[in-house]
Amino acid sequence: MAVSESVHGMWSSRLMFILAAAGSAVGLGNIWRFPYLAGENGGGIFVLVYLGCIFVIGIPIMSAEILLGRSGRQSPINTMRELTAMSGANPFWQIVGWMGAIAGFMILSFYAVIAGWAISYIFQMGSGAFTGADAEFANSAFTSFTGNVWSVVGWHGLFMVMTIVIAARGVGKGLEIAVKYLMPALFVLLVVLVIYAAATTGHFMEGVSFLFSLNTEKFSWGAVLTAMGQAFFTLSLGMGAIMAYGAYMPKDASILGTATTIALLDTGVALMSGLVIFPLVFANGLESSAGPGLMFITLPIAFGQMEGGEIFGVIFFLLVTFAAITSSISLVEPAVAWIVEKAKISRAMGAVTVGGFAWLVGLGSAFSTNIWADVTIVGGMTFFYTMDYVSNNIMLPVGGVLIALFAGWILDKKIIEDQMPGRTTMFSLWRFLIRFVAPAAVSLVFVMTFI
Ligand code: PHE
Repeated sequence: MAVSESVHGMWSSRLMFILAAAGSAVGLGNIWRFPYLAGENGGGIFVLVYLGCIFVIGIPIMSAEILLGRSGRQSPINTMRELTAMSGANPFWQIVGWMGAIAGFMILSFYAVIAGWAISYIFQMGSGAFTGADAEFANSAFTSFTGNVWSVVGWHGLFMVMTIVIAARGVGKGLEIAVKYLMPALFVLLVVLVIYAAATTGHFMEGVSFLFSLNTEKFSWGAVLTAMGQAFFTLSLGMGAIMAYGAYMPKDASILGTATTIALLDTGVALMSGLVIFPLVFANGLESSAGPGLMFITLPIAFGQMEGGEIFGVIFFLLVTFAAITSSISLVEPAVAWIVEKAKISRAMGAVTVGGFAWLVGLGSAFSTNIWADVTIVGGMTFFYTMDYVSNNIMLPVGGVLIALFAGWILDKKIIEDQMPGRTTMFSLWRFLIRFVAPAAVSLVFVMTFI
């Protein structure tokens, strides 16, 4: 029935698929976005809702995306087209592929801006500028850096070029080589930093209790929506990234087991990032609700205080950059694969087109901390916040629900049997979650937030 190889290439093993998908999942969402959202939304209760969403909604939808991708073995747009036809379903379902590609552009546009900040911080740390820095210095360094339009746009452009170069080299020579080295390195450094936070700040337990103790005062449906959106964002779900990567996954690997492994890795990295950042926040008397600047303000202070901090700081921001790259290549993959299939052009041309366009859109976010800081789009949000809010809190969950409904109710049973052989308890659980629980949970959050 299904083709066994993708024209775009294949991961060389199940492990490589895990690394690539974990590379997509682990990124700015874990190290930068998760801690600052937890901080803004009161810690424990946010973390609990987020974890609930990962397990009840995230893992089932990730499995569904892999299932769809591996059955279609093409770009998400063409995979959805083919599976819709094969299942005799309404062409409406093709919207999943299209909406995903648009969400990918929107996310990449602001993602590359933040990744650009991280690249700049590699050099700022390396220059020794933060040696002995206190909170006030780190705050003003951040404000003046993001306030300078030329530097923000320059670093943003550099990051996009790096993404384009890797994406252009293709699955085997680009993506796989990037994740093979960068992911293990990132993991090791994070462990070192958690140990550092535990051993030296004297405020580790405060960080732990901030992340894990339930403060119900902070509960709001808006925060629940944010936590759910973050679950989609951090697992790269709802826009076809995992579907695109699933298209290159070997047939013999188990889908449910693999998805669970990836989600656990991703969640582990997010929690560890929180356990690095919050002890530093409390040790230095900073605001846990500092927003998007949190990581860029707290860590430089900590590195500034520690022995050999310059080197640690350089390595840390280097790894944040790498984590961002292994995610951004998955943000462009659905659109690049589609352009290659459709226009029969080279991957290089496809990558330049997609990346170039995302860079242009991203200028709006790059300007949001300087020349457009006062320009608001909807609800008083800057361009940057609008892109982030609409893509993560709305488009990803909507895309995710459509994927869940398609895989649970519409997709031809023979395809599921072929991709997920064996009727285990885990399979029954997945089927129940994907058909009922995930769609209902997302709908409930939407209704409670917006009505
Ligand atoms: N999961 C990535 C992160 O946490 C972001 C991402 C979202 C990547 C959607 C691909 C698709 O940084």
